[in-house]
Amino acid sequence: VRLSFPDMLGIFDSGIGGLTVVKELLRRQPDADFIYLGDRARAPYGSKTADVIARYAVEDAQFLISQGADVLVVACNSMSAYAMDALKAAFPSIPLFEVIGPGARAAAAVTKGRVGVIGTHATKKSGAYERLINDVRAKTDVQTVSCPLFVPLLEEGVLNPRETKLIIKRYLAPLRTSQIDTLVLGCTHYPLLREWIEPRIGHRVTIVDPSSTIVDEMTERGVIKSGSGRQSYFFTDDNPRTRELAEAWLKRPVNIEKATI
Ligand code: DGL
Repeated sequence: VRLSFPDMLGIFDSGIGGLTVVKELLRRQPDADFIYLGDRARAPYGSKTADVIARYAVEDAQFLISQGADVLVVACNSMSAYAMDALKAAFPSIPLFEVIGPGARAAAAVTKGRVGVIGTHATKKSGAYERLINDVRAKTDVQTVSCPLFVPLLEEGVLNPRETKLIIKRYLAPLRTSQIDTLVLGCTHYPLLREWIEPRIGHRVTIVDPSSTIVDEMTERGVIKSGSGRQSYFFTDDNPRTRELAEAWLKRPVNIEKATI
């Protein structure tokens, strides 16, 4: 029998990307209670179509709820772009948080008029950032570039080599040409690459990290609370690098359990 705890956060992504949200959460509330799910077996999500992403999201959420989650945190831009209606319909009484709204509002607040967004194919195709940034700040020029190689590189743990830097440079080139003043890291995996992205986009560009602004929003809405530090990490597939990466990123021991969905 699973006991359900009030305010158990269920945080999910296609893989390790949502750990950038977890890191921000732990920075602010080290003893928060949460269950993390990375659906590594079916990643990447960002190259899949809207209906598949929505179906996977509902299955992920179902797993987290079965483990006791009563707040859902969609720590993935691709699911935030395409799965919110399906999640609301499937779990009408569960509070839901997503990354794109808070990220778009933060970008609209800081930009002088030219925003670059980097994300997955799905996030680009949805046009969500363009729409939401312009809802707050009309006539903002928003240019989105998809960077489909970043997620597989990160999931494989290829973080620092020369090739990664070259790929980053190549993806950012059109945004440099457009002289953006603000760059949105529109995929929750990308903050893992931030220290290599930053010098390649130039120091005058303000970086907006939705993995952090979602935590601002959760804080404002009062769902981040001191708990008893019940923190579980589930992945749908094992990669020996996952634990290593998670521990290096979160700077704490991480025990990974296998999830069957
Ligand atoms: N981390 C997810 C996002 O924010 C996507 C990763 C993937 O493509 O699976 O979009």
